[in-house]
Amino acid sequence: MNGKLECKLVNYQLDANNCQQFGDSQDNDFANRLKKNLKKLKPWLKKQDTNCYRIYDADLPEYNVAIDVYDDCLVVQEYAPPKTIDTEKARRRLQEVLLYLPAVTGVPAKQIMLKVREQKKGKQQYEKVNTTGNRKVVWENGAKLYVNLTDYLDTGLFLDHRITRQKVRQMAKGRDVLNLFSYTGSVSVAAALGGARSVTTVDMSNTYINWAKDNFKLNKLNGAYHFVQSDCLQWLVGHNGKYDLIFVDPPSFSNSKRMDTTWDVQRDHVILLTQVRRCLNPGGTIVFSNNKRGFKLDHDAMAELGLAVENISAQTIPQDFARHSNIHQCYVLTLS
Ligand SMILES: C[S@@+](CC[C@H](N)C(=O)[O-])C[C@H]1O[C@@H](n2cnc3c(N)ncnc32)[C@H](O)[C@@H]1O
Repeated sequence: MNGKLECKLVNYQLDANNCQQFGDSQDNDFANRLKKNLKKLKPWLKKQDTNCYRIYDADLPEYNVAIDVYDDCLVVQEYAPPKTIDTEKARRRLQEVLLYLPAVTGVPAKQIMLKVREQKKGKQQYEKVNTTGNRKVVWENGAKLYVNLTDYLDTGLFLDHRITRQKVRQMAKGRDVLNLFSYTGSVSVAAALGGARSVTTVDMSNTYINWAKDNFKLNKLNGAYHFVQSDCLQWLVGHNGKYDLIFVDPPSFSNSKRMDTTWDVQRDHVILLTQVRRCLNPGGTIVFSNNKRGFKLDHDAMAELGLAVENISAQTIPQDFARHSNIHQCYVLTLS
């Protein structure tokens, strides 16, 4: 009784079926937009050789999420809302997204992962958020790669770099390749599959170096493949190896406790590229990319280093990322 009112307590079991029934009406702005996107993506997808791609990227500002397909799963990332947005409203909108997704995509709710992404900086960016240890194998252009959709903020595979990986693969044949800030080594795998003579993979994190090794094993790659767990900035200073192709994709910012100083790609890219250039064989190429919005490459400094610059950002943004074409910038720097 609630005062004089008689009350009933009823427990319902929510499962894929009764969620679907409700979502089935699908007369909702988000659901309609997603259906439109899926239809539009279909012909493009037929020509792609991957089971990982983006299907929605904050197309409607009030549904401020990115949604990626990883094989039979979906990863929903919530962009941090601007401070002006009513948090209760944002929460309701997110619930709508999660409610309609199974019905529109056919992916059961338990295979939909939600990640709340705020503007994280430095070490926070790569910290564990879970410990399930669940990983799955996905594929892309002939490479198999492990992803983990639950334990970290990132999955192990940056989908916006799909074309970049292909470019590196095409440039790698017969060359000694160095991959700096390698993360899980997906670019290294691409280089190895492209016929690189050797591939050296450097990252500060043990977890990611081991993940990169596992990715090589998964692709049955045996050869002159080297893995180094080290701070790239320190490692480069004392390093005398020479390479024909160097891929560099540093974080925008970092203040990791493993580093002596902070890192800011805008402030520090010239110092980094000066060190990287020292490791380049004559006629060698650097592919330099980063995700800093509004990043400006110091062209004068590149000229002083004898590096010719080609901005390949536009060519390396896949169609499924076209809505946010500033997601990364990418340059080919050639020793002239
Ligand atoms: C690929 S980079 C950054 C990716 C993307 N460009 C971004 O901004 O998020 C991420 C990787 O850099 C590594 N990392 C960060 N600082 C590093 C350093 N000083 N030396 C080596 N690896 C580093 C991290 O462990 C992580 O695997």
